[in-house]
Amino acid sequence: TRHLLSVADLDDATLRSVLDTAGEMHEVQRREVKKIPTLRGRTVINLFFEDSTRTRSSFEIAGKWMSADTINITGKGSSTSKGESLRDTARTIAAMSVDAIVMRHQASGAAHQVARWFDETGTPTVVVNAGDGTHEHPTQALLDAWTLEQRLGSLQGRHVAIVGDVTHSRVFRSNLLSLPRLGARVTVVAPPTLMPSGATSWAEADGFTLSHDLDAVIAGEVGGTPDALMMLRVQRERMSGGYFPTPREYTVGYGLTRDRLAAYTAAAPDGVICHPGPMNRGLEIAADAADAASSLVLDQVSAGVAVRMSVLYHLLAGEGSAA
Ligand code: CP
Repeated sequence: TRHLLSVADLDDATLRSVLDTAGEMHEVQRREVKKIPTLRGRTVINLFFEDSTRTRSSFEIAGKWMSADTINITGKGSSTSKGESLRDTARTIAAMSVDAIVMRHQASGAAHQVARWFDETGTPTVVVNAGDGTHEHPTQALLDAWTLEQRLGSLQGRHVAIVGDVTHSRVFRSNLLSLPRLGARVTVVAPPTLMPSGATSWAEADGFTLSHDLDAVIAGEVGGTPDALMMLRVQRERMSGGYFPTPREYTVGYGLTRDRLAAYTAAAPDGVICHPGPMNRGLEIAADAADAASSLVLDQVSAGVAVRMSVLYHLLAGEGSAA
């Protein structure tokens, strides 16, 4: 596919190339003058129907640093509020000779649907999935992988525990499609009520481990001590009719509390903590953990710009040196 809708759209060579090119783009990011001409004359529209701080701004910065013209449209400020359909909205934007639409939508599969409409109508605009419902968030997984590789070196043989509201997490689903391909072993930790139904057979088929016991995972009793704890946000906005466990019970059972941080630091002195953001401090992650020296949260945000530059480069630029 010419779009980036899922991590699965990237074959192994392209996945490696996107991560390696992100390294080149990170060098650009560190320069005093960051502008490079790579996407001069290209137009990228950020079309966000769901709120975002990191993804939208980093795609905009990435496009601008590569000299693309970038424009932001939010669902609230668009004519969808007057009843215009997603199909008409997407095709209207594409008709302005836009090269790429970076799209976030609350409906799982929305980016895939827009890409299908474009392909069916011969519309050349590329679609980048910036998060669709509970389905996927491919550029988040790419930036997570790049950040972890920067800190840990190769992910070959590394153990990553993904912890939290797995049911609602598109970040989890995309990471599950990238981390094992980069050599990591994955353990998924969630309360039974926030683990997707069918996870057991899914885990057997895809070779990852499930646990409901975060303390046992931190202690290394489930596949050895994790090299990284990837904490997920509790997505209360996707939980209609309340949820169980309660916030207090969640923190007690699955939060990276101060005590669990101490236990993890003792078990894995070089272990790192990730969180895609936005964080619910005090719910899934204590302030001590979010701000710990082992926390990569802001490294992930920074990596988001370099990785999205790399993604835009791969989708929109020709062959040759990226930076
Ligand atoms: N991690 C992430 O997607 O954050 P935003 O919702 O702020 O873009």
